[in-house]
Amino acid sequence: MAHAAKLGTNLTGVQMSPKDTERLLDAVNDIHPDVPGDSAGMMAERAVRTAEADRIGSVPIPGSAKGMLKSSFDMMRGKSPEVLLDKMGERLAYERNGVRLYDAMIAKVKGSDTPDSALIGTLQHIRDEEYEHMMLVAKHIETLGADPTAQTPCADVVGVLGLGPLQVITDPRTNVEQCMNALLTIELTDNAAWELLIELAEAGGHSNIAKDFKHALDQENDHLVKVKTLMRRDLTAQVK
Ligand SMILES: [Fe+2]
Repeated sequence: MAHAAKLGTNLTGVQMSPKDTERLLDAVNDIHPDVPGDSAGMMAERAVRTAEADRIGSVPIPGSAKGMLKSSFDMMRGKSPEVLLDKMGERLAYERNGVRLYDAMIAKVKGSDTPDSALIGTLQHIRDEEYEHMMLVAKHIETLGADPTAQTPCADVVGVLGLGPLQVITDPRTNVEQCMNALLTIELTDNAAWELLIELAEAGGHSNIAKDFKHALDQENDHLVKVKTLMRRDLTAQVK
């Protein structure tokens, strides 16, 4: 796998052929779509479908026998405890996806022209912390008497959201720098999400859970700094 950008026979830009560009612009005026409608019609149709649609899944009712029996059982309280549970399910799914993304990234670096063992070590460290976070959230879902194996609606949504970075990193043609950009997207979202989760846990009256989550947020801040630094270092070294 090659690193970064390379000059080549890229034919996608219009400047490659001014004559064809002129013909293309003429064709835009002469040839009309054979399907009626425009973007306004699409917007109207989407609004109709949205109004008709049902919601994406539901939050399972907590209070499982296993959860109830645990000594650390922390009663669900607050006005809408399912909101916290839904977001905890989201974090669990996201961290699980994070483990898989970092595993794929480690394979990417190992397959590069110049495998960097220090970089592999850093990625492994972050990967292991994502795994810890996943287990931490699973534990606290059980603390609330709920089932960590259930997929909540927000967990479903972040699974879809993470598909872009997953496709970028697992595409054998993408290089380390391009994949680092995908990880940056993941880590920025991760940071904001942990901040919100801590606020929700505190608002729901679960200060012990919030305390554990603060430790995860500290580690997530470190992930963000590491990914940003690696990206900057690699790319500026190539430009200089
Ligand atoms: Fe992270």
